[in-house]
Amino acid sequence: MPIEFTATPPAWSYDDYWNELRAMEIELPQHSQEFQPLMQFLEKLQPCNLVEVGTREGGSLFMLSRIMPPGSTIISVDLPGMAWGRKDSGVRKQRIAERLRADGFTVHLVERDSSLPETAAEVSQLLDGAPIEALFLDGDHAFDGVLADFRNYQPLMKEHAPIFFHDIAQAPHLPKVEVHYLWRVLKTLAPYLEFVVAPHWGQGIGIVLNTGLAAGFDLKTR
Ligand SMILES: C[S@@+](CC[C@H](N)C(=O)[O-])C[C@H]1O[C@@H](n2cnc3c(N)ncnc32)[C@H](O)[C@@H]1O
Repeated sequence: MPIEFTATPPAWSYDDYWNELRAMEIELPQHSQEFQPLMQFLEKLQPCNLVEVGTREGGSLFMLSRIMPPGSTIISVDLPGMAWGRKDSGVRKQRIAERLRADGFTVHLVERDSSLPETAAEVSQLLDGAPIEALFLDGDHAFDGVLADFRNYQPLMKEHAPIFFHDIAQAPHLPKVEVHYLWRVLKTLAPYLEFVVAPHWGQGIGIVLNTGLAAGFDLKTR
């Protein structure tokens, strides 16, 4: 069932934030007409923590942090140079982390393979066992990889908390992006929302609420 959500004009400027990123020479591989509505959705929920799997230079982490409550905890799980990554992204990611700390956030950069159970255990430890209130999955986009991330972090989440997926669109020229195989199952199980500007060109953001997912979820292959 689709989540009812009407985006009203925000009190902040997406372009101003994006310009700040540009000035720091940090890339933002997101479509503004998909990412701004995501920020507006998240702003209404006021989560006190955010876990992002797949950070690269920190563009999406910075943008999402702009609407997080002051003093909240932000955890990035990202290993530079893995799928859709670059070995040299760590320096810029550190710079974003320092900026967010200066803004008053508690920031942890977990540089480990996100799909391993011990990585999820470290995230849980960093949160002192508190449940994840918002989860952004934008790491490995292969079916097995995104499924492993979902299975690893979903059990740590607060009931009804949102899980965001990037690249839910099935684009013919991007066969390695397989998030859609998982997305099309998840959206049958729990309330969901999609921001997809140009399905055939790829990208697209999907949000699903963490309710009934574990019990109803039995996907083993695509
Ligand atoms: C698409 S980029 C993230 C983009 C970022 N969310 C943004 O919008 O600015 C994916 C990142 O996930 C990392 N990654 C991919 N698979 C991973 C894995 N199994 N464990 C940890 N990091 C991984 C890559 O190295 C890369 O930095």
